[in-house]
Amino acid sequence: MPILTRRNLLKASAVAGAYGVGLGLAGRFTAAQAAPEPMVLKTQKTEAKIMDVGPTKNMLTWGEHGMPPVIRMKKGEPFAARLINGIDDPTTIHWHGLRIPNKMDGVPFLTQPYVYLNDAFDYAFTPPDAGTFWYHPHCNTMTQMGHGMTGVIVVENPKDPVFDAEIVLNLRDWRLGGDGQFIQQFKPRDAARAGTFGTVRSANWQQQPQYDAPAGGLLRLRLAITDVTRIYSFKLDGAAGTVIAIDGNPVPERFTLDTLDLGPGERLELAIRMPDDEGAIVSLSDIHSTNPAVLATFRAVGNSLKRDVRDLGPLDANPVAKADLSSAEHIPLQLSASADKGPSDSICGSLGYTFWAINKVAWQGDTPDPTAPLAELKLGKSYVIDMENLTPHLHPIHLHGMSFTTVSSNTKQVMPLVSDTYLIEPNEKVQLSFVADNPGDWLLHCHIIEHQKTGMTSYLRVV
Ligand code: C2O
Ligand code: CU
Repeated sequence: MPILTRRNLLKASAVAGAYGVGLGLAGRFTAAQAAPEPMVLKTQKTEAKIMDVGPTKNMLTWGEHGMPPVIRMKKGEPFAARLINGIDDPTTIHWHGLRIPNKMDGVPFLTQPYVYLNDAFDYAFTPPDAGTFWYHPHCNTMTQMGHGMTGVIVVENPKDPVFDAEIVLNLRDWRLGGDGQFIQQFKPRDAARAGTFGTVRSANWQQQPQYDAPAGGLLRLRLAITDVTRIYSFKLDGAAGTVIAIDGNPVPERFTLDTLDLGPGERLELAIRMPDDEGAIVSLSDIHSTNPAVLATFRAVGNSLKRDVRDLGPLDANPVAKADLSSAEHIPLQLSASADKGPSDSICGSLGYTFWAINKVAWQGDTPDPTAPLAELKLGKSYVIDMENLTPHLHPIHLHGMSFTTVSSNTKQVMPLVSDTYLIEPNEKVQLSFVADNPGDWLLHCHIIEHQKTGMTSYLRVV
């Protein structure tokens, strides 16, 4: 009997990866459903014009130039992508919010080896859920994501209601100086607080872009916050927006957008009834900070289609198992500050500081021997995470591989939303329920990257 060490497992998955099929996927493919031709995602250094002063150098993306492509997948249909690394920094791809096999999850050491310069890794999986998701590396993320590697995923459901237009916005900031070039990506002092904010805001790598949409028509607006730090508070002017989905899942009950706070990693889908008058402008703003900003505008064009948002049929619920609260085991999870010393060294982009901890343990970085799991869960059993925020800051806490349902909070009324990220307030205690139905090691971390990288990370093991 060979002994299965983590190292052997990684080798095995690297070999499987080279042939386009991950080990864990074998059972999911039938002969009739062979993996499709992989989409090539090659990491590249690029330049782009974010500010008027001229192109920003040292940007990072997948593909030839410009923003990472919006990847379109179909619910229940196989998808394949070949990551080729064209930059001299190890990388991976994590498919944020997609409930796929662990080997495809893109977390160095926990689920796959690094992909070095000129190496490749094949991802192949079938997305079980429809909605708005996103992708990003899980390696040296402060730099790789900070410099551009954040892209949006749309998983289509052919049974979705029909809209007159669809617009996808990749929302993020850039840390640029007055000359349009990158400045220091973070300040330790800020990493120990709310995080270091960008200096330039953007939607689809542009400042305040304007898009046309049919007058009187129904616009499906998909927003993804892919920024490394910023919490957004969305507001719409010039038209009413109906919230139809959050974090890739339909909301239990639709409501009109007043303002809504969402953190890094989260997504919002709005149905916007465009104004009847040609030329009328609808604007999307973020009013969270003391510096409110218009993110993008939408201009009504043509004769009014005279549509009514109440005619929109429902979105299918995603096939996420419901936890059994009566038998569920509880997992305590406390977010706190940490006084530990920073890791002395890490090959995957340690920031060199420790400020945060989960259950008093600060993640030591992406090392070959990570800390023990937060909890070991039994496959198929129900669990409730009792999460408590002992810090004076907001944290968008993200769980890989499984979706949870928000059960209750001590600070506000919550809707039973199915999600992968919960934005927890200071002094809030929240209960998140889920069925441990996906085997493997699943990372759980704050999506403010400076928090994640300075201790606020852990993982759950499902066996
Ligand atoms: Cu958006 Cu660990 O992920
Ligand atoms: Cu945080």
